[in-house]
Amino acid sequence: MKIEAEKWKAEIERDLAAAADEIALQQVKARYLGRKGVLTSLLKEMGGLSPNERPLLGQVINELKQGMEEGFSRRLAEIKRQKELEELEAEGIDITLPGRWRAMGRSHPVTQVLEEVVDIFTSLGFQVADGPEVELDYYNFEALNIPKDHPARDMQDTFYISEEVVLRTHTSPVQVRTMEHQRPPVRIICPGKVYRCDADISHTPMFHQVEGLLVDRGVTFADLKGTLEAFVHLMFGRDTRLRFRPSFFPFTEPSAEVDIECVICSGEGCRVCSYGGWLEILGAGMVDPAVYAFVHYDPEEFTGFAFGLGIERIAMLKYGINDIRLFFENDLRFLEQF
Ligand code: PHE
Repeated sequence: MKIEAEKWKAEIERDLAAAADEIALQQVKARYLGRKGVLTSLLKEMGGLSPNERPLLGQVINELKQGMEEGFSRRLAEIKRQKELEELEAEGIDITLPGRWRAMGRSHPVTQVLEEVVDIFTSLGFQVADGPEVELDYYNFEALNIPKDHPARDMQDTFYISEEVVLRTHTSPVQVRTMEHQRPPVRIICPGKVYRCDADISHTPMFHQVEGLLVDRGVTFADLKGTLEAFVHLMFGRDTRLRFRPSFFPFTEPSAEVDIECVICSGEGCRVCSYGGWLEILGAGMVDPAVYAFVHYDPEEFTGFAFGLGIERIAMLKYGINDIRLFFENDLRFLEQF
């Protein structure tokens, strides 16, 4: 009995392998499992066997049937795959050729640094605010305590759209816009593009700033120092020292410019810091009560601080870049380094 089974098994395998297409394969299946199929008639022979031989034959036939079914599925898959390959070959597609390579894009270095700055301030509890780049003279200057014909306007060389409309020269107008429709506490930052009629190795007509504004009860200069120190330590490392120099902005009083220890020479003095050991990174101060008058905040009740930092400046310090114009020339040899 056993020997018979092995013979049949080999025969089934041989027949399946010989089937060249799906139709031939179906025919093989019918030849064994069909109503008059080989295995079916084998089963009929069981009648002539003794009762103790019957179960054995039944088992053998079942195994053969199962083997037939499995072999059929395997061969069918093979035939289909073969057919697909032949079709692809007929189409002239060489699937062994390497795929077409697509260059992976990434964020511009200025965007990367901008996002890093935003992440730091949002982690300190600031919310992101937004404002228009084409701005009214009123928000860009007037309401920031810079009246028409005031010499303070000379600090920012402006692109005029019309007499009352300018390309914003800083992100500070967002301070006014925010306070106009929100009561304290106000804790915002505003990242964005600003424009000045300037172009040289350290100025481009368009650049990026991040504005910060915090107004609440009892806010002091110490809060400003603490906030900026936290920022500098997160941005440039915990050992980076910073210093506040007295300065002037019409919309803050007192005002300061903030320097960090030169990140290139650690304060020793080098070309980047003009041998001074310090690098200016931002302007800041306590919000001038004159600004509160424009937004109807009571300066007896609320105090606050504001700051504005230049993103390109920070990116240049972070990566040791000595010409701001490199950011905007779209030279891939430069951009691919970030
Ligand atoms: N807006 C100022 C500038 O662009 C920077 C600044 C912002 C200063 C906020 C003080 C407070 O020069």
